[in-house]
Amino acid sequence: MAEIAIVPDAEAAGELAAEQIARLVTRRADAVLGLATGSTPLTTWTALARRSLDLSAARGFALDEYVGLPDGHPESYRAVITREVVEPLGLTPELVHVPGDDGGPLEGAGARYEAAIAAAGGVDLQILGIGRTGHIGFNEPGSSLASRTRIKTLTEATRADNARFFDSPDQVPRHCLTQGLGTILDARQLVLLAFGEAKAEAVAEAVEGPVSASSPGSAIQLHPKVLVIVDEAAASRL
Ligand code: GLP
Repeated sequence: MAEIAIVPDAEAAGELAAEQIARLVTRRADAVLGLATGSTPLTTWTALARRSLDLSAARGFALDEYVGLPDGHPESYRAVITREVVEPLGLTPELVHVPGDDGGPLEGAGARYEAAIAAAGGVDLQILGIGRTGHIGFNEPGSSLASRTRIKTLTEATRADNARFFDSPDQVPRHCLTQGLGTILDARQLVLLAFGEAKAEAVAEAVEGPVSASSPGSAIQLHPKVLVIVDEAAASRL
């Protein structure tokens, strides 16, 4: 059973998530953090930055990346993670990885990413947002609960949601590389955050719905150590 924390707002949620990360890295400076993009984790990163911890030895693995954006595109998740996480938190860029950023070919990138996570000893704490479609990482409905890092096609709903980051909707890539649900479940601790009414259905399905590939977030019910941090609106269907 996931532990649910209903907090007043995204700032309070960020404080609580940052607290989990701070506790971990204080115990072990080279902890392996599972990083997420999207607007949801932003308050976590700012709350963590305020603590001014030395995170230079921490290692990081991002959940996912678009496929097909030109190198250095500002909305590539490599660029987003650098801008929103690595730089403000003082992480060491070489210790932070994003699927497909190892310079190798796209073919086999998923397996290489899995191997890199395994070589680091696995993820200690994975931060997660959830999409309106119920996706975690970019595991859209229909993703196998046992899936590993691989190429996926984005749903039109997710492309439409993410169009706000691009000049026009047709610039949103159609494919991505994402950790699988099985990969995410291997992390030793999960912290899932969600805010706002638009996420209420996805949160209810993830926390209380049947565990099913048609609602990828429900995979968290298979994990023994999950903290779900939501505001009142995102909790409204629980
Ligand atoms: C994106 C990311 C997910 C994220 C989700 C929600 O597509 N790939 O990792 O959790 O969508 O985004 P947001 O937090 O901006 O609502």
